Amino acid sequence: MAEWQKSGWRGRPRVQMPDYPDQDALRAVEARLAKYPPLVFAGEVRRLKEALGQAARGEAFLLQGGDCAESFAEFSADLIRDTFKVMLQMAMVLTYGAKVPVVKVGRMAGQFAKPRSAPTETIGGRELPSYRGDIINGFDFDPAARVPDPQRMLQAYTQAAATLNLLRAFSQGGYANVHQVHAWTLGFTQGEEAARYRDVASRISDTLDFIRAAGVSEESAHTLQTVDFYVSHEALLLEYEEALCRIDSTSGRPVAGSGHLLWIGDRTRQPDGAHVEFCRGVQNPIGLKCGPTMSADDLKRLLEILNPENEPGRLTLITRFGAGSVGDHLPRLIRVVREEGAEVLWSCDPMHGNTIKSSSGFKTRPFDSVLREVREFFAVHKAEGTIPGGVHFEMTGKDVTECTGGVRAVTEEDLSSRYHTACDPRLNASQSLELAFLVSEELSARRDRPARSVAL
Ligand code: PEP
Ligand code: CO
Repeated sequence: MAEWQKSGWRGRPRVQMPDYPDQDALRAVEARLAKYPPLVFAGEVRRLKEALGQAARGEAFLLQGGDCAESFAEFSADLIRDTFKVMLQMAMVLTYGAKVPVVKVGRMAGQFAKPRSAPTETIGGRELPSYRGDIINGFDFDPAARVPDPQRMLQAYTQAAATLNLLRAFSQGGYANVHQVHAWTLGFTQGEEAARYRDVASRISDTLDFIRAAGVSEESAHTLQTVDFYVSHEALLLEYEEALCRIDSTSGRPVAGSGHLLWIGDRTRQPDGAHVEFCRGVQNPIGLKCGPTMSADDLKRLLEILNPENEPGRLTLITRFGAGSVGDHLPRLIRVVREEGAEVLWSCDPMHGNTIKSSSGFKTRPFDSVLREVREFFAVHKAEGTIPGGVHFEMTGKDVTECTGGVRAVTEEDLSSRYHTACDPRLNASQSLELAFLVSEELSARRDRPARSVAL
């Protein structure tokens, strides 16, 4: 394979990327970003890769979640804290059920660019370029707002840096102390799943009291006081990714400095395309979205291109087929992975194959379909003897009404009351927790069965 260069993607066909009208302004922004400090460091990236390798073997479990798209307008400490809090709650429920460590990865601090199903949008007979995420253009249905503006990359960088700074403070500064397990309960998570959470939290508190009484060492106390929290986003806007790419001084290898894990979307995973070309050369863990149109041939090529050394933790296949379709696609992809002897982590995104338009006109996701896809994912892996190693959700700590259903049922009529997403509908805190309990049950069942080797 040809030698990799961080600008090598420029010679490949690209999709889903903007054409900047002002190329001089674009170059000036790229030059500035290239001088800025990276947001993440190679040592952290390697640590995450190791953790994902453990998840691939069933010794840990990946929880990846956050906004569909972060926005400049909705940016506040409260929002970051609430999403972080729900992730901690979910992780606690999962750890309790699965009895394995949960690798926590936010769709945060860089998740600003969106692939779109159509290049233009028409409202009331007026056609404008589609909104592509705040890092590219504006959401307002206005011709000026929709022009791609490279300056937005600088604002995205600043917001990502501030987000990450707060997440690092929460993770290491005492907020994530497991003794706070009760305090993470959000004010509005009432009802059945909140009661279940409080029950798990009480059991954890009891166990901690017992450990303390038995004389826990300072060292392990520290482990309980902090968490490792990583960030991820879709590597869509390659000018931004290239500008933040750095050489790791320890290994001498390139590392994407924009986030710990980058993923390639279902619309940008062409084996000869620009996105795959960029991602193959950075040492970060890479996610690869696999939808119903992923062919055996393409997957085979992508496994070779993205993980030629078959490194554990390097590649996460994030499957997103839609409820009712997992059985049609997952077994054939598992077969390819087996035939290739490839090391991959299997993760389930039950969001992107289950988006529908409600009768009231809102883009939504029925919570039942989300649950069903997760169940099907676990069932297929059980039948195949492979390891269901993670989940990928679009969620928020806010009490939004964007997905229908759940224990505190959101109806189609409710959607308009708190529909805040600029992009895809997210699970609210209560639905997220409910989902965590389901996954936790599936995982404790996984624990009860004898492990079988994945490779042939
Ligand atoms: C996403 O994760 O936001 C997304 C667009 O997913 P996919 O590429 O799987 O459609
Ligand atoms: Co989305």
